[in-house]
Amino acid sequence: MSSRAHLDHPKLGVLVSGSGTNLQALLDADLGAPIALVISNKKGAFALERAQKHGVKTCVLGHKDFESREHYDAAIVAALEAEGVTHVVLAGFMRIVTSVLLDAFPRRVLNIHPSLLPAFPGIDAQKQAFEARTLIAGCSVHLVDSGLDSGPILAQAAVPVCPGDDLDALRARILVEEHALLPWVVRLVITRGLVETPEGPALRSALPLPSRSLALWSVRTAEA
Ligand code: GRF
Repeated sequence: MSSRAHLDHPKLGVLVSGSGTNLQALLDADLGAPIALVISNKKGAFALERAQKHGVKTCVLGHKDFESREHYDAAIVAALEAEGVTHVVLAGFMRIVTSVLLDAFPRRVLNIHPSLLPAFPGIDAQKQAFEARTLIAGCSVHLVDSGLDSGPILAQAAVPVCPGDDLDALRARILVEEHALLPWVVRLVITRGLVETPEGPALRSALPLPSRSLALWSVRTAEA
């Protein structure tokens, strides 16, 4: 199928490593395209059960079974392309991806990260923010590049760090926004695409924003 026709029939691939609560949010949402495949690098990931219960095809590709990150990503690309995947979402996927995956899905690999990037990249971002005693925390949805949580940011949700919060309370407050923000951005990317602007890629006119009680959302949009 030509790449244009391919993109006219969008399909999602989701990469996971753990509990899969962000995957669950995607499974429960109307994304404008089906989730064709869920790949985990961990065979025991509960995310796989979530996908199977939803009737979504799954596969496990253990990164330790491959001689390099590039070989691993090539296997991921092959599995995704075999299912006709056009867009990829990293939902709690704890691996750095390489240009092998990014070149196969240019500007079509998204990630959810539980901090207000560029602050607190990497693992345990919520703990980093909590220990830095920030007053505002949150999450980011961004396009993935070959760096560590460093690709162009498309949307963010900010939440307060409340007096008396412990780390679990903060994680939970951020996670609520992750589960709302990620499906909302994925649907916009699938149904309206991105606009390239001088400041970088932007969602196409994403307003109005959903009303949120305890959070502030902000998105990068442009009129094409
Ligand atoms: C989430 O906070 C996500 O942002 C981070 O891993 C956590 C667990 O994700 N990458 P999930 O429950 O596996 O979706």
